[in-house]
Amino acid sequence: MNKTKVSRKNSIGTNNPIWGGRFNNRPNSIMEEINSSIHFDWRLFREDIECSKAHAKMLAAVDIINDKDEKQILDGLDTILKEIEEGLFKFNPELEDIHMNVENRLTDLIGETAGKLHTARSRNDQVATDFKLWVRNAIDQSDQQLKELQSALIDRAEEHTNTILPGLTHMQNAQPITLGHHFLSYVEMFGRDRSRFVDARKRLNECPLGSAALAGTSFPINRQMTSSALGFDQPTRNSLDSVSDRDFALESLAAASLCSSHLSRLGEEIVLWSSSQFKFIRLSDSFSTGSSIMPQKRNPDAAELIRGKNGRISGSLFSLLTSMKGLSLAYSKDMQEDKEPVFNAFDTLSLCLRAATGMICDMTINVELMQKSAGTEYSTATELADWLVKNLDIPFRKAHELTGKIVKLSESKSLQLWELPLSELQRIEPKITKDAQKVLLPCSAVQSRNSFGGTSPDQVKIQINDARERFL
Ligand code: ARG
Repeated sequence: MNKTKVSRKNSIGTNNPIWGGRFNNRPNSIMEEINSSIHFDWRLFREDIECSKAHAKMLAAVDIINDKDEKQILDGLDTILKEIEEGLFKFNPELEDIHMNVENRLTDLIGETAGKLHTARSRNDQVATDFKLWVRNAIDQSDQQLKELQSALIDRAEEHTNTILPGLTHMQNAQPITLGHHFLSYVEMFGRDRSRFVDARKRLNECPLGSAALAGTSFPINRQMTSSALGFDQPTRNSLDSVSDRDFALESLAAASLCSSHLSRLGEEIVLWSSSQFKFIRLSDSFSTGSSIMPQKRNPDAAELIRGKNGRISGSLFSLLTSMKGLSLAYSKDMQEDKEPVFNAFDTLSLCLRAATGMICDMTINVELMQKSAGTEYSTATELADWLVKNLDIPFRKAHELTGKIVKLSESKSLQLWELPLSELQRIEPKITKDAQKVLLPCSAVQSRNSFGGTSPDQVKIQINDARERFL
């Protein structure tokens, strides 16, 4: 919609055409500046028109307006939709917000009949409904984009069921794991994110339209009709709550914040893995940036930005939580502050999700280097301790201590665990046999971790099938 300009010219005369009756003078320009929201809430135009059309049809169905009025209103609204979509509509900040801009244009187009549209409704229930529709679409889009990211991760996991890399704790090599397993851990995280969005959507999906300003209306409206026309499950049950509720926005922002925190962890790992020290992956030219001074540089800016944009998304949640705190019922203009954080958060989340999917598909994986690194730092020591427990019936704590001594010995000889001669191992525990040496290889270590949800290639294959069934 960047073709659409918000004009600052006065085109509506001295008084506000919507409530001018009660006022003698125009608002001060500062008043106008603080009050106007059209520079951001124009983005609700589709929802606003959809909502008005449903309302007009309902008004006609219950004989509050006649069929001729209904047709004029619906045609006018369609014209406005087209004008906005084509960038021909002139948004006017003096008309404050999207609702009044649309209504004013409708008056230009069809005359006084336009005034009948606002029967039995208020901007309070109108904005709550428009905004719910917008957030619902944003949730659906996030769900779809998360699904695409999961699909990319599952495909890469399938390619790398047997690729071994170091699993880290405290950023130190801990135990070897498979890359498929690592990718699938993100699939789980994003699956939980999706379920949080789905859950928020369920609670959101009640229609506030018809609650009017706060107390309902004396007109014989049919709220069921507008609710189902707009794809809601049912009308909201309390008109006061309907116009003062922004839980749906907050819950969605909370889900978006957690999702973006997950994305920031993925971003961090991409930064780390593509670093000169790790070199586990390489991003192609399409997902790398150069430096203006150092010609050799390839920087993972998109991954860093995914990590950094978490601040903006979580910030949006805090911004709205703070605006809503302590508001008395029902509507207060503070609530106009709800839209920018939500727009900003969902625009950002969508970009991050698309960039993450792009990078996951794009990255080249350095299988050899990963594998080599997986065996370093005595990462299979737990294997040896487990072997002592299983084969020599040594209690785990004792086995832990003996293995610790063996690690110390390997370190003093600058050898990997599996390179230690049997005689050396037997210096620590005489009953150790050469079978123990076999379990010390990283590939045996991952094969053996075959418990449900574990890292073995066999488990990962099971997890891939399961993830496809659950998520795609
Ligand atoms: N632009 C307003 C908002 O976003 C619409 C509701 C105005 N209601 C009112 N009572 N002034 O919240």
